[in-house]
Amino acid sequence: MNAGLMQSPRPSAIHPAKPGDVVKQPGHWVLAGLGKRVLRPGGLALTRELMAHLHPCDDDSVVEFAPGLGVTARIALAQQPRSYVGIEREPDAARLLQQELGNENVQFVLATAESTSLHSDSASLVFGEAMLSMQTPGQKQRILAEAFRILKPGGRYGIHELALLPNEIPDDERKAIEREMSTNIHVGVRPATLTEWKRILEEAGFHVDWEAQAPMHLLEPKRLLNDEGLLGVLRILFNLLRKPIARQRVLSMRRLFRKYASHLSAVAIVCTKPAPAGAESV
Ligand SMILES: C[S@@+](CC[C@H](N)C(=O)[O-])C[C@H]1O[C@@H](n2cnc3c(N)ncnc32)[C@H](O)[C@@H]1O
Repeated sequence: MNAGLMQSPRPSAIHPAKPGDVVKQPGHWVLAGLGKRVLRPGGLALTRELMAHLHPCDDDSVVEFAPGLGVTARIALAQQPRSYVGIEREPDAARLLQQELGNENVQFVLATAESTSLHSDSASLVFGEAMLSMQTPGQKQRILAEAFRILKPGGRYGIHELALLPNEIPDDERKAIEREMSTNIHVGVRPATLTEWKRILEEAGFHVDWEAQAPMHLLEPKRLLNDEGLLGVLRILFNLLRKPIARQRVLSMRRLFRKYASHLSAVAIVCTKPAPAGAESV
């Protein structure tokens, strides 16, 4: 399962951070700099469930928002879709993925998911992982509107994000989690509850077809082993020993994830853009 991941662009090549940078770097790039390749909250197992429900095939025009290190891009590309476009706002990530995986049907574009410049009704499958949770409510709305716009009627949209528990989480606890996590990870963290994720998808016009949840165990040993394999874990441990500032960042993130473990989970949702009554869909 990890064989494909071993060919990912070396994360440290994406962010050759000087020691001082690591103090303020977004948490996911700190992890990538240590060799961690799977950067989504439900791990590879939830990604595989999501992809099984999205079932990319050779007939699909696929768009991925925020491919990052290209882990899920590789899973989708293994199905040889008709076309694939990855929309990534981080220049080094987009460039390295294009160098490694790009060809006449596969393109990685430096752009934001809010504004892809892709044609309306041009994709049959859109997905993005661990990228909506870091957006403000307005940005979330704009990204979902863009997914809806570029999808053909009947097209599928999949997300894999951080979710807050329970659905009735008190406002003060939500604010404390958002504040502490944003300060700690150095990126805005604004997860929604499962009910809210489904609501904003429906408000964007989608019909929700499937959902699944998994524990948020990004930095727990068993998940690390499942996601990165034994060699990957050894590589991360070796790098943690060599990089004290990154080590402090990771331990601090893990303390926070554990502190709020009962309030955090991962969620995957598959939805469709409804076809107008009587119209042909994909
Ligand atoms: C936590 S990483 C997740 C990467 C990958 N999806 C994964 O699950 O491994 C977040 C990624 O989202 C990208 N990103 C965040 N907001 C974005 C946006 N509005 N448009 C495109 N990419 C975005 C970042 O550059 C980064 O690559």
